[in-house]
Amino acid sequence: MAAIMIDGKAVSGRLRQEMTAEVAAMKAAGITPGLGVVLVGEDPASQVYVRNKMRACEELGIHSQDYRLPGDTTAEALLELIRELNCREDIHGILVQLPLPAQIREEAVIAAIAPEKDVDAFHAKNVGKIVQGNYDFLPCTPAGVLELIRSTGISVAGKECVVVGRSNIVGKPMAMLMLHENATVTICHSRTQSLPEMTRRGDILIVAIGKGKYITGDMVKPGAVVIDVGMNRDENGKLCGDVDFASVEPVAGYLTPVPGGVGPMTITMLMRNTITAARLARKACP
Ligand code: GUN
Repeated sequence: MAAIMIDGKAVSGRLRQEMTAEVAAMKAAGITPGLGVVLVGEDPASQVYVRNKMRACEELGIHSQDYRLPGDTTAEALLELIRELNCREDIHGILVQLPLPAQIREEAVIAAIAPEKDVDAFHAKNVGKIVQGNYDFLPCTPAGVLELIRSTGISVAGKECVVVGRSNIVGKPMAMLMLHENATVTICHSRTQSLPEMTRRGDILIVAIGKGKYITGDMVKPGAVVIDVGMNRDENGKLCGDVDFASVEPVAGYLTPVPGGVGPMTITMLMRNTITAARLARKACP
């Protein structure tokens, strides 16, 4: 039996439609959600991401403004811009595209963003709130994955969920969200012994390790929900996930394709966080 495909584009499209109506209602009430997008340097992948984020804002009626700084920008200059954006009443969300050039410490930049404008949910205060289960923002990729799992109609409570990858952006918050959903959660990583044994336990298997086609069919429990967060190029330059689609598809119950699975959801969740930030907005500056 072949896996049922989880269509990230379709789920994302439905959510964006709802959000478009929400933004229109907010505008009618005098609030236009606004997102400030900061890009330092010329990284081509980052330029594509930033363009897609701004395009999504436009589609939904969200105001967006980009700030493109040269690659040799100093940390102080970037922090100054963030302080300015923290005080802007028309900018409710601030997104600093990562990675940053080597001379700028990412942690210092993340710490400088006002937590109520931190639409990536990277600030320590927001991470702490997520751990406590009392949060305003969820990081965009884990939030998108949760929506995709919900779209299957499979109930998560009590299930074995295995997360492969422990990054601050995906693996760690993802595990926490699944715990809040009452799954029994295991986090695996590059140092995990007997990885196939662990991944085969997962009724839900979420893979974010950044290694192309790493999870093969023999590592998957028959009928499992498999979510592939990876985005890699294979030996022919073709986009591929962390999951080996050809061998997993006959084993899994549900599977996200790459592209067209998690990818479209991430920006949609950024839009949701920007709308939330606009709702939360309070005058924090003089
Ligand atoms: N670079 C890669 N992923 C992300 C993300 O989710 N947010 C930001 N700000 N930069 C990224």
